[in-house]
Amino acid sequence: MKIYVWGTGCGASELQEYGVDPKDIHAFIDSFPSGPEFMGKPVLLPEDVRWDGDSFIIVSARQSGEISEKCAELGFDPERILFLRNHFRLVDINRSYDNAVGILGENAAEHLRGSVRAVRTPEWTSSPLLGEKDMENDWVRVAALVQAARRLESVRGAAAELGVYKGAFARCINALMPDRKLYLFDSFEGFDEKEAESEGKTGSMFAEAHRNTAEDMVLKRMPHPEQVVIRKGWFPETANDIAEEFAFVSLDVDLEESSYAGLAYFYPRLSPGGMIFLHDYSSPSLPGVSKAVVRYEAVLGEKLHAMPLPDVNGTLVIC
Ligand SMILES: C[S@@+](CC[C@H](N)C(=O)[O-])C[C@H]1O[C@@H](n2cnc3c(N)ncnc32)[C@H](O)[C@@H]1O
Repeated sequence: MKIYVWGTGCGASELQEYGVDPKDIHAFIDSFPSGPEFMGKPVLLPEDVRWDGDSFIIVSARQSGEISEKCAELGFDPERILFLRNHFRLVDINRSYDNAVGILGENAAEHLRGSVRAVRTPEWTSSPLLGEKDMENDWVRVAALVQAARRLESVRGAAAELGVYKGAFARCINALMPDRKLYLFDSFEGFDEKEAESEGKTGSMFAEAHRNTAEDMVLKRMPHPEQVVIRKGWFPETANDIAEEFAFVSLDVDLEESSYAGLAYFYPRLSPGGMIFLHDYSSPSLPGVSKAVVRYEAVLGEKLHAMPLPDVNGTLVIC
């Protein structure tokens, strides 16, 4: 394997921290080299790199956005580029956890992952647990769930999702919290038409889009089906007889009344340290979700402790 290191500044000192042995480095890359050599190795312009299937680039420079664009322009395989530095816009730029492990070893790769510097989780790319990729467009929410699941390890209570549809997010919850009971609430017949109409969702597309699912289809996708309790029907009636505390709840029902019912049911049952992910909170096309929060806060008489996530449609994390 030919390891190139992009950057000849102070970032290069990070390499040893990550366990890269300088003698394994083939060459350095720098767009503005200050000399022909660095640490006894040649310094190449990006255009002079002879890229082949065996090449691997470790980027220790700060300008990771520009570098990423340059790599794409030069046709370097993004799976074989590892960014060591944390840049907000690059949270997900590292494409292969396996490569990070291969080059840096388990500990260093885990350190990158743990400090949210950005390597996608192994579950994301390679494990059968999250491997169906149907959450890929919403990786920020899944990455947040990965972190949340770790933090919730010592928090007591069950997990739940209200609004399951085909179980894409439920599958992630079940995969990441294998020791928790997971309640799944859904009509499995789409939305309540009256509720949808009262919020201006009159077209058949809205109602019908969520009917093509079924409990057994959802159950089959779950990696730990023995933990799953499916409650089919209209929430909140389907939760009347449950006496549980909840460590984690995903609320994803799109409309105001059902979102409000979810908050009113689950928030008082959240165990200390527990979290609710309220999906679509910032969605311009589903304004009922944030209205439900305003209504619930008025009833509570205080603001919820909450943090909006910048994921697709905006999730509000309520603690
Ligand atoms: C946006 S989908 C959920 C998406 C899902 N979380 C995922 O990972 O793909 C919303 C679901 O909420 C269900 N739903 C909405 N209101 C409900 C209610 N009051 N009771 C039960 N299910 C409801 C709908 O049937 C639909 O399947």
